[in-house]
Amino acid sequence: MSDLVSLEIAGKRVFLRCDLNVPLKNGVITDDGRIRASLPTIKFLLEGGASIIIGAHLGRPKGEVKPELSLAPVAKRLGELLGKPVSFVSSVTGEEVAQSAKSLKSGEILLLENLRFSSSETSKVDEERIALAKELASYADLYVGDGFGAVHRKHASVYDLPLLLPHAAGYLVSAEVEVLKRLTQNPERPYGVILGGAKVSDKIGVISNLLDKVNVLAIGGGMVFTFFAAQGKEIGTSLVEVDSIPIVKELLKRAKDLGVDLRLPTDIVVAPAFSADAPATLVNADSIPKDQMGLDIGPASSADFAQAIGTCKTVFWNGPMGVFEFAPFAAGTKVVAKALTHVQGISVVGGGDSAAAVRSLGFADSDFGYISTGGGASLEYLEGKALPGLIALDL
Ligand code: 3PG
Repeated sequence: MSDLVSLEIAGKRVFLRCDLNVPLKNGVITDDGRIRASLPTIKFLLEGGASIIIGAHLGRPKGEVKPELSLAPVAKRLGELLGKPVSFVSSVTGEEVAQSAKSLKSGEILLLENLRFSSSETSKVDEERIALAKELASYADLYVGDGFGAVHRKHASVYDLPLLLPHAAGYLVSAEVEVLKRLTQNPERPYGVILGGAKVSDKIGVISNLLDKVNVLAIGGGMVFTFFAAQGKEIGTSLVEVDSIPIVKELLKRAKDLGVDLRLPTDIVVAPAFSADAPATLVNADSIPKDQMGLDIGPASSADFAQAIGTCKTVFWNGPMGVFEFAPFAAGTKVVAKALTHVQGISVVGGGDSAAAVRSLGFADSDFGYISTGGGASLEYLEGKALPGLIALDL
């Protein structure tokens, strides 16, 4: 059964898997969006008289204890947002965890240390993951899965643990899945997908799966230079994934055959180096100088993408249009984000990085139809893949 409201939670210990993988700079959380997104389920459980053991990951410590990837700052921030203390235990398993979990009273919360400090969490060996899952299961009566950003991972706390306990999806996971269904099952048309970001190889699956479903596909960001290279254009010293050129050629051909309105940038902001103070120049996309790299889409391209977005009733956007972290190369991403705020229908911003990007550019979450907390997870869903964390929650 995967309905949160039908779980008998009063007086029970709930293991709650959240995605609290927030960006940190020198130990300070720079975007707490994922913590905030976890609050509705946490509050529901607390108000229903449960006690909560939260399990989450931070970064990719690869089974080693890395102090800079401790969840301690997250416990503090969560406590501030909830207005009540969140206990923190600096291990994933063991006697201290068992005792802390056991002594929890109704309405109390315990956050475990970064689950990925244990190599079993991410192990490819089923028995290792299951052993950890069994130990985690021993601390709780029920499992609630709300870490949407990690549902594409076959990890102990995401996949094996819910199979061992009565379980349900949390509000965040349910909301994310509902939105993704709107993008995949009968989307309101015209349907536009805007993709950016550095790596084209991360997006090939999604482009391939969505090509026959979308009306408009606009591509910017570092990944566009592999498209340009596939078209035989000079790309200077811009990012390129040479191995992806053949598949990109195929995608370009399929888009043409399917009559997709494919929009690639016509002008590019280039600079001689990857740096905030490198001198920026605007060039035509057909004449990128050999010694320069593209760091943003130009104003004509942004206006063209914004026009395309304005015609759509359903829009999904993942990945910045340029190096938005550097002010001279943020304009393309800003124009696209702004256009999304005007969509007369549903606009979805996909991914932790894209969400952090729009917030850092001054947009509010409420400016968009929906901001997904899961980058990889939402892309894999849109690729049509079966996601372990959703399978385990019967979704
Ligand atoms: C994310 O940041 O997308 C999620 O927290 C998953 O993290 P991962 O890609 O390291 O599994």
